[in-house]
Amino acid sequence: MQSEIVNMRIIRHLLVLLMHLSLGTFAERFSNGYYYQDIVNGNGGMYFHRIRLHVESSEPLVSAVQGSNVTLPCHYRYEPELNSPRRTRVKWFWQPEPGGVQERDVMVAIGTRHRSYGDFKGRVRIRRSAPGDASLVINPLQSDDTGRYRCEIIDGLEDESTTVHLKFRGVVFPYYSSKGRYLMNFHEAKEACEQQDSHLTTFEQLFAAWEEGLDWCNAGWVADGTAQYPVSVPREACGGTHLAPGVRSYGARDKDLDRFDAFCFTSSIRGEVYFLQHHSKLNFTEAEEACQNDGGHIAKVGQLYAAWRFVGFDQCDAGWLADGSVRYPIVTPRINCGLSEPGVRSFGFLPKHLKHGVYCYKVRW
Ligand SMILES: *[C@@H]1O[C@H](CO)[C@@H](O)[C@H](O)[C@H]1NC(C)=O
Ligand SMILES: *[C@@H]1O[C@H](CO)[C@@H](O)[C@H](O)[C@H]1NC(C)=O
Repeated sequence: MQSEIVNMRIIRHLLVLLMHLSLGTFAERFSNGYYYQDIVNGNGGMYFHRIRLHVESSEPLVSAVQGSNVTLPCHYRYEPELNSPRRTRVKWFWQPEPGGVQERDVMVAIGTRHRSYGDFKGRVRIRRSAPGDASLVINPLQSDDTGRYRCEIIDGLEDESTTVHLKFRGVVFPYYSSKGRYLMNFHEAKEACEQQDSHLTTFEQLFAAWEEGLDWCNAGWVADGTAQYPVSVPREACGGTHLAPGVRSYGARDKDLDRFDAFCFTSSIRGEVYFLQHHSKLNFTEAEEACQNDGGHIAKVGQLYAAWRFVGFDQCDAGWLADGSVRYPIVTPRINCGLSEPGVRSFGFLPKHLKHGVYCYKVRW
């Protein structure tokens, strides 16, 4: 028995070896995803070229604002260059983040024929600004579009791909309850952000905001259930000077019992925020009505932040917002318009009978 098994093994090895030998020149063709043989007949001779298909993205991480358009770069080329164009098929796939969910089809294009799928229908096209340009244009960008995109080029036997990650560029803003500081549990903080047309920020978003200079001395909830605050300039009133600048964390907290402020994240320029031109100042109820009479709504805090950050909205007039706070956005700091840094100034929540201007919001589509 023992020797029979050994013999069988030897025979199998020999067979595999024979197969390799007999396939000879062809073996290379199947051994590797990149290469294939292109047979050219010229002058009666036969030449073998090794042609390699390269698929690359000049920008593997793209960030964009919701409601805008975005281009996910993808280019392909042959090495050596080809004299005549080949028929290629471009296919884009999408995998929402975090992973785990299966890749879904976004679009497929062969020559001028193309087809888009699901939610992407009618919102995507292949750019084709130059030979080999297979970049995907999404217009407009919607709230669920973030994730990992894969650009696949299929050319006969070959198929090569590259991936591009799409994330939202946004703005993080601190938020507290109209009833006061440190009063919201996790669920209330989440809801408060949503009511201001935003979401509880993720740690990555808060960290990016800190890198861009966000400095805030009150701890707020973050989407992962921790409470944190970003400090650029360490100071006594803000945890002391012995700690380095950074995002300071209280760690994971009790989502029902612990109470903090919130850090909200918004990434949307779907609508337009404007300061309503009105002949007189308005109390809160009048302000709400005035926006409605103008065909819009009183603006939410997240909408004002997004307009300030992404559209450069700058207005030195205190105005009511939907939550009963009074604020105004400054891009270019100047005398009599608040502090020395750009930002959204807040007077906090004011008694609703007081008279101010108002910021309204209109959806563009
Ligand atoms: C796409 O966005 C760019 C700015 O990022 C803008 O100039 C262009 O007009 C937009 N195109 C469309 C079709 O919206
Ligand atoms: C605002 O003024 C109107 C009168 O123009 C009044 O009816 C209303 O109660 C006032 N609202 C508040 C919150 O004071």
